[in-house]
Amino acid sequence: MRAINAAIIGCGAIHICHVEALRHTPGAHLHAIVDTDIIKGQALAATYGCHFYQDYREMLQDQRIEVVHICTPHYLHKTMILDALAAGKTVFSEKPVGMNSLEVADIAEAANRASGILGVCYQNRYNPTSRAIRDVLASNVLGKMLSIKAALTWSRSGGYYTESPWRGRFATEGGSLLINQAIHTLDLMQWFAGGIDSVKGVVDSGPLAGTIETEDSAMATFVLHNGARGLFWATNNHTTDSPLLLEIHCEKGMLQLRDNTLWQIADGERISLTNDNPPTGNGKNYWGIGHQKAIEQFYQAIQHGGDSNYININQAAKSIHIVEAIYRSSQLRRWISINY
Ligand SMILES: NC(=O)c1ccc[n+]([C@@H]2O[C@H](COP(=O)([O-])OP(=O)(O)OC[C@H]3O[C@@H](n4cnc5c(N)ncnc54)[C@H](O)[C@@H]3O)[C@@H](O)[C@H]2O)c1
Repeated sequence: MRAINAAIIGCGAIHICHVEALRHTPGAHLHAIVDTDIIKGQALAATYGCHFYQDYREMLQDQRIEVVHICTPHYLHKTMILDALAAGKTVFSEKPVGMNSLEVADIAEAANRASGILGVCYQNRYNPTSRAIRDVLASNVLGKMLSIKAALTWSRSGGYYTESPWRGRFATEGGSLLINQAIHTLDLMQWFAGGIDSVKGVVDSGPLAGTIETEDSAMATFVLHNGARGLFWATNNHTTDSPLLLEIHCEKGMLQLRDNTLWQIADGERISLTNDNPPTGNGKNYWGIGHQKAIEQFYQAIQHGGDSNYININQAAKSIHIVEAIYRSSQLRRWISINY
């Protein structure tokens, strides 16, 4: 197995999940980190025993680096992805890959032309419970899906937004609750149902209204591609980060994700199918447990080829279209069709 040198751009809250995943991924080697904050960046580089760059464009000229991880604020993703692909690098970007469908279209075009591949981090797809839901649905043992209900209730304080001021601003975050936190839930819902055809939704802000210009709460109803109904509610105003609550009602029973355990309820019986064990190391429990798996799969695709095991730009675009459709629906107060 050949060694693959990686660099991480952006050393904020999420970067440690990438550092740890790289440490445990066969063949991967953290070669450099990049951050505009020189004091933090140099200290972290010393801890990790890697190179430090303050300017990502300089890092892109380092021919020893093959893969670039993008862990920066949302408004920087498109430019950094395009620059990295143009420099011949392979890119693994944190979600959201871009802030809206126009940005995503530009990124898709660049990715199609590029020599390197582009993967996007939707780590919750790799949770054992997510895999099991897909398997049960594919087996048709519960019959046709009738509805999916998801409730995401997390806690984000005013300090979370003021300590990283790009958050909570349309120009730099592109929205808040939907595009940053609930995007994982929306991605799972569309993935389980084979897509979302149309949406009617509302976004609003409550306790955080004085701090952010974006939304802290949202609800939406979906017409799912398989004909079923989707019900979605999310807020950043809870006082703790509760695990995602998700229920899939089918003709012959129900799947229920509760406290990170997947239950199948059918024929008067409730059985536990699997659960998501909390991550080891510094990954936060509520982010899901899949960074290690997502990054491992991506490096396998780099080593061995094949794009079935990582989330490419076309897959990643779907949740951006849904987020955008909820924002539009909320503005226009009507159903919005989603054309992927
Ligand atoms: N997958 C998940 O579950 C998950 C969880 C949290 C965050 N994220 C994503 O990770 C990304 C980063 O979020 P965060 O919460 O870590 O942000 P953050 O504000 O904590 O960190 C951002 C870092 O980027 C650095 N930075 C800013 N501009 C830069 C530039 N031009 N060049 C180099 N570095 C620069 C900042 O100095 C900071 O260290 C976002 O896309 C976010 O949505 C994903």
